[in-house]
Amino acid sequence: MPMPSPPWQKLEEYTKVAIEAAQLGACMLQACAKRGFEVERKTPLNLVTDADRESERAVVAAIRRQCPDHQILAEEEGFYTTQRSPWKWIIDPLDGTTNFAHGFPAYAVSIGLEYEGHCVLGVVIDPTRDEVFVGITGKGATLNGLPIQVSHVTQLDQALLVTGFGYDLRETDDNNLAEFCQFSLCTQGVRRTGSAVLDLCYVACGRFDAFWELTLNPWDTAAGVVIVREAGGMVTNYQGAPFSIYEKKLVASNGRIHQECLKVLQRVRGQCGRL
Ligand code: IPD
Ligand code: CA
Ligand code: CA
Repeated sequence: MPMPSPPWQKLEEYTKVAIEAAQLGACMLQACAKRGFEVERKTPLNLVTDADRESERAVVAAIRRQCPDHQILAEEEGFYTTQRSPWKWIIDPLDGTTNFAHGFPAYAVSIGLEYEGHCVLGVVIDPTRDEVFVGITGKGATLNGLPIQVSHVTQLDQALLVTGFGYDLRETDDNNLAEFCQFSLCTQGVRRTGSAVLDLCYVACGRFDAFWELTLNPWDTAAGVVIVREAGGMVTNYQGAPFSIYEKKLVASNGRIHQECLKVLQRVRGQCGRL
């Protein structure tokens, strides 16, 4: 499906809305971190805190104030609206909940915006480093207002990669550990930050050369894919087809090592009978 051209003026206006909403969410996270918060388990590995919910409430309220007719999908409450609109906001109010719950400073608020089913805007705020990543379709990507670009590494054995693991890690054999081992042997290193949103932003600004993950949700990827693409990077599924945020498996890279990454994934997964 060709990308419909979004009304640019609106997109500019919605960028401001997204930044303001993400700032409110980020303030909520820092307030919770300071005063303390309750932690609950959705499953043994999947935590949720007051901060997730309070950040989501703040972000959703800010978006609804400015854009009452738009669709909203957010991680904790799901769909807030049922009306039809070409605009759909996709929100992760706290990406990196496990880090947050343990006091490890790697987490972010992520807000993506779709226009007629295409991701056109991404805003990510990391309140622990005061970093604001923005990607606007056709207009480039920035970090704290300055343009960013993916790295120039051309070989996998010189690349620094990052990945993450789904919360079903203990329940399935298809848990990314075989892929993690293989990439560890053929790159300069593989990191695991615990925030898929930041992993994507770090590919966009060249801190990582590629990121892959097996079990992602739309709120993990909606903002980051725009930021990576607008920084000159490539985002596909494991087959090399353009990635949809409604798919689970993602490879994001500087483009230069993308085919090599896909080959490793296909080889490892082929050996395990999981093509
Ligand atoms: C998780 C983080 C993690 C990734 C998981 C995500 P959450 O999101 O992004 O890095 O490996 O797949 O679910 O639960 O912290 O919002
Ligand atoms: Ca997430
Ligand atoms: Ca989350």
